[in-house]
Amino acid sequence: MVELARALSEHPEVSRVDLLTRLVSDPKVSPDYAAPAEHIAPKAYIVRLPFGPRRYLRKEVLWPYLDSMADQALQHIRDIGRIPDIIHSHYADAGYVGTRLASLLGVPLIHTGHSLGREKKRRLLDQGISSHTIETQYNMTRRIEAEEAAMDVASQVIASTRQEVDTQYSQYSNYQPRNMLVIPPGTDLSRFHPPRGLLSDSPIRHELHRFLREPRKPMVLAVSRADERKNISTLIRAYGESEELKRRANLVIVAGNRDDISVMEKGPRAVLGELLMLVDKYDLYGHAAYPKAHNSNDIPELYRLAARTRGVFVNPALTEPFGLTLIEAAACGLPIVATEDGGPQDIIRHCKNGLLIDPLDADAMGAALLDALSDDKRWRGWAANGIRGANRQYSWHAHVGSYMKAVRRLLGQPSRARIIRPIKSRLPTIERLVVCDIDNTLLGDNEALDQLVQHISRDSALGFGVATGRHLSSALKVLNENGVPVPDVLVTSVGTEIHYGRQLQPDTAWQRHIDYRWERDRLQQALEGIPGLRLQPKENQRQHKVSYFIDPDKSPPIRDLTRHLRSLNLSANLIYSHQAYLDLLPIRASKGQAVRYLGAKWGIAPQHMLVAGDSGNDTEMLRGDTLGVVVGNYSPELRHLRGEPQIYFAAGHYARGVLEGLEHYAFLSTRTPPGEGDET
Ligand code: GLC
Ligand code: MG
Repeated sequence: MVELARALSEHPEVSRVDLLTRLVSDPKVSPDYAAPAEHIAPKAYIVRLPFGPRRYLRKEVLWPYLDSMADQALQHIRDIGRIPDIIHSHYADAGYVGTRLASLLGVPLIHTGHSLGREKKRRLLDQGISSHTIETQYNMTRRIEAEEAAMDVASQVIASTRQEVDTQYSQYSNYQPRNMLVIPPGTDLSRFHPPRGLLSDSPIRHELHRFLREPRKPMVLAVSRADERKNISTLIRAYGESEELKRRANLVIVAGNRDDISVMEKGPRAVLGELLMLVDKYDLYGHAAYPKAHNSNDIPELYRLAARTRGVFVNPALTEPFGLTLIEAAACGLPIVATEDGGPQDIIRHCKNGLLIDPLDADAMGAALLDALSDDKRWRGWAANGIRGANRQYSWHAHVGSYMKAVRRLLGQPSRARIIRPIKSRLPTIERLVVCDIDNTLLGDNEALDQLVQHISRDSALGFGVATGRHLSSALKVLNENGVPVPDVLVTSVGTEIHYGRQLQPDTAWQRHIDYRWERDRLQQALEGIPGLRLQPKENQRQHKVSYFIDPDKSPPIRDLTRHLRSLNLSANLIYSHQAYLDLLPIRASKGQAVRYLGAKWGIAPQHMLVAGDSGNDTEMLRGDTLGVVVGNYSPELRHLRGEPQIYFAAGHYARGVLEGLEHYAFLSTRTPPGEGDET
């Protein structure tokens, strides 16, 4: 990720790359992870957001904290004052956060799953692990859901290999073939170049000379961990069984470092033990080298040594999703013979620098190795192809080149069928926000409304929101009929629903937040048959809102209704408006709470929010530190707010009153920051 961020930032068309991750402050990990920001290249930063507990947590248990990461990412965006052009999420958890951010901000999402939950689950089940354990240990359902959502929302999904697309991404319901793009990850090839000049004296060369009788013979080189899946034993058999191969070439196996095999872990102990037995069985002394130790600088040197002998690099692994060593070998001018799996298939297709083999067939493997060593002219062609291919296809530079092509397409081609050109939200960059109730506040005086709309749209630092009792489509309809442009944010159904911008992106985090202790059916039952209450029409009943017409002369006082509900252990926020309406909302919901949530989420202080209303359901948003404006035509239930701090009672009615409020608080763009020049 860090290499990618650096490489991306070096592209001339990229102005900034922020790599967002979690801040971890834990004595068990390096203090580096506790630095909120790290400058890793002239245009690239690691930004660490402190969400969840401070200590290190494994990725499987991060899920409950990811909403907080999304909120903090919004704050970060506000801090840098610029909305990104692309959000790229890596892995399922980032997919969850990226899906939210991209939707909220109206920015295209690119997603890379890296490894996918459905496949992992399949493997774990194959290993005999129970569904229950998979759930509790790996939180698999959430992971898969997040992957599905990311694939649904992403405009582009980037995979490393074709095989990953065909076998893994294709298992998803939201797999859309035309959104997939294969770009192999870059590799840092700076140390991997072909042999230059005379053979130099390197320590690893001396090491090999301890094993090999004729070190100048072509070298068949394998480099891998001492892991059973790397299938080293079949390679030794292939070599040992072929007299011809033994005569023509040496076998060099670099399988990690070892000191005392007998005290190693079971896996590598078995692999190395078998290696030694097979060397002995086939009597490979003088023909095969298997150095005890090497360091990372020896590896490029080994590839070059093998290339000087006109040898090959062999990867006999049972599976190979990517194949980094193959690319490194190729870059050193060493042809490859590799297992017939996703990574090598792509590499051979791109580089044309060797042969594919069946890892389970020792005889065929031996024959392929002989074949690869037998034609000098072809060998030279492979060597040259590998050097060129590795650098063209697998360098970070190449990766970023293909990546930027995709980015240009995403940003520049609004008309492509599926990609609806998202319109960026303005919320992270505005400085102040006006939130108006609709009925009897915005609406009622057309001339004043036109003036208000003009004032607001002229001020680029000013955002515009509405907060209404109406449901979304009804609000949109009435705004449209009155020539009001779609606001930056719509708080509807008395604060129980929030949608953003022209795309009407719902805030699902808000829905989840307010769902707390909400028992819709029981509430409705509890109020059945109470005099003076009559349910409103169906379209006014929402998931988090039960609404009645109330006749205050016939109904018990609101206070008694609240008491009644409490006695049944039910909690709700009761909102009484215009002496005619009663809304039951979740305790966490109201227009006022929604407005505060918006402020926290988008980083707008209450003092930078002007709210205007006329009736009971506006009370909560008028109170507190927000700059309140009550329009002149207010209904009696707001009378008690007179004299409360930061609530201005305008003389003008409807939008005229809102205009007066803007004036009162000097809220429209002036040199002095708003809300600070008026505290007299
Ligand atoms: C709007 C809604 C209604 C609600 C009233 C008061 O008129 O349509 O359902 O009861 O506002 O909040
Ligand atoms: Mg109203």
